[in-house]
Amino acid sequence: MAKQDDLFKNVVSHAKEYGFIFPSSEIYDGLSAVYDYAQNGVELKKNIREYWWKAMVQMHENIVGIDASIFMHPTTWKASGHVDAFSDPLIDNKDSKKRYRADVLIEDYAEKINIKAQKEIEKAKGRFGEVFNEQEFVTTNERVKGYLEQKNAILQRMARSLENDDLADVKALIEELGIACPESGSKNWTEVRQFNLMFATKLGASADTAMDLYLRPETAQGIFVNFLNVQKTGRMKIPFGIAQTGKAFRNEIVARQFIFRMREFEQMEMQFFVKPGEEIKWYEYWKETRLNWHKSLGLGAENYRFHDHEKLAHYANAAADIEFNFPFGFKELEGIHSRTDFDLKAHEEFSGKKLQFFDNDTNSSYVPYVVETSVGLDRMFLAVFSKALQEETLEDGSTRTVLRLPSVLAPTKAAVLPLIKRDGLPEVAKEIIEELKWDFNVSYDEKDAVGRRYRRQDALGTPFCITVDHQTLEDKTVTIRHRDSMQQDRVAITELKNIISNEVAMRNWLMRM
Ligand code: GAP
Repeated sequence: MAKQDDLFKNVVSHAKEYGFIFPSSEIYDGLSAVYDYAQNGVELKKNIREYWWKAMVQMHENIVGIDASIFMHPTTWKASGHVDAFSDPLIDNKDSKKRYRADVLIEDYAEKINIKAQKEIEKAKGRFGEVFNEQEFVTTNERVKGYLEQKNAILQRMARSLENDDLADVKALIEELGIACPESGSKNWTEVRQFNLMFATKLGASADTAMDLYLRPETAQGIFVNFLNVQKTGRMKIPFGIAQTGKAFRNEIVARQFIFRMREFEQMEMQFFVKPGEEIKWYEYWKETRLNWHKSLGLGAENYRFHDHEKLAHYANAAADIEFNFPFGFKELEGIHSRTDFDLKAHEEFSGKKLQFFDNDTNSSYVPYVVETSVGLDRMFLAVFSKALQEETLEDGSTRTVLRLPSVLAPTKAAVLPLIKRDGLPEVAKEIIEELKWDFNVSYDEKDAVGRRYRRQDALGTPFCITVDHQTLEDKTVTIRHRDSMQQDRVAITELKNIISNEVAMRNWLMRM
């Protein structure tokens, strides 16, 4: 645990030190769970957004994008159920005065039991080697069976209680499990209460006429209310999708873990409209497709897993998370939900307008079903950044900090370094920059010894360093150093564009999907 905490602290401090993420309004001591993306962070974030957009919109003929407003008519949130039901069950510890999400306390407890089971499975894997049959072991080993049954029983009871709005039983469960406040160790809890997560604001100048509004807590509703506009103007045929990226706001009770849970964050969502009855087929398709998108970034397949929901939201008939192995363990990265026709039907009812698709083949109209994919851009950033950050011991015993970002996402693709600051080398380096900057983000660095400059670029995640030396003046060649292998090759300046392009082109990365 201490090791995990250290790793996470490194992630937060590296993000600040190297200009990726700053606390918001830091000169005023910051604002809780609000962060600013700095000069390198904004590039990484933009590249992740673009990688998603290309995969979802550009590569799918039947998916188009929109950019809806953050403010929406307030009835939107009545129809979507957010006014009545978008709340978290919270509980306070009377001694530490700390506030927690009751469901998260229980889930963390259940996860600890799950980890015990997984440890037993790992041990057995080691013992039995290649002949190990995990499925058989999990169903026959009494200890593992016990752990998994215990975990499932806890989660099922919690799901039932939350579904029935039986908050007293949620508290009873916390007490029965002996869950203590992680801060103080105390078990002195208040009752569990529901807390609405939407931020309210007002539209209009005068207090009498101002209209109550909410900052959108998800981007999805901007897609639903535009369903018919897009379908008709884009002449879209079912199945088709509408994608969008943008800010969402939630007054999170427990906002912590850096950019994992923020109050202002960005989502990348896609609603896929399908024929009723075909939603589970498409739900499976999108589960698979989205997992493959994540895996294409090469952060390690073992760092992803599905978590099928025990408790389904009132609008869903199937739901799963793609969880990622963050520095603090496996947590939700993306949600894939089969949302039935709940949203479109609710908007039909509240607006009095028909939101239906006319099927020419059958000469009839229907309200489509929806499969949603929804991933947090900031969470994606944290996933990529935390996995990429590595401390390496080199052959000579020295260490280096390297940010092994997937090069397609790296903020700067190449740094051009004159070996020394004279003899015309800076001028040649700048000429190379002038040429490369049409295609890539590149930077120039002449300060300090070249070894230190390499390390600085390693820590920024720059995939290539191009060094201009005296030989360059004679034969127009440079050395190109690869961030991960540290290998250096002598190449012609005219080859640089191709070498970099081969490594960073989105096409090459997306083809791995
Ligand atoms: N439209 C469905 C929806 O909003 P969600 O599971 O509440 O579903 C989707 O959110 C994704 O948005 C999550 O998987 C997560 O990546 C991201 N997300 C949600 N709340 C967040 C927060 N407070 N901070 C950062 N990301 C968040």
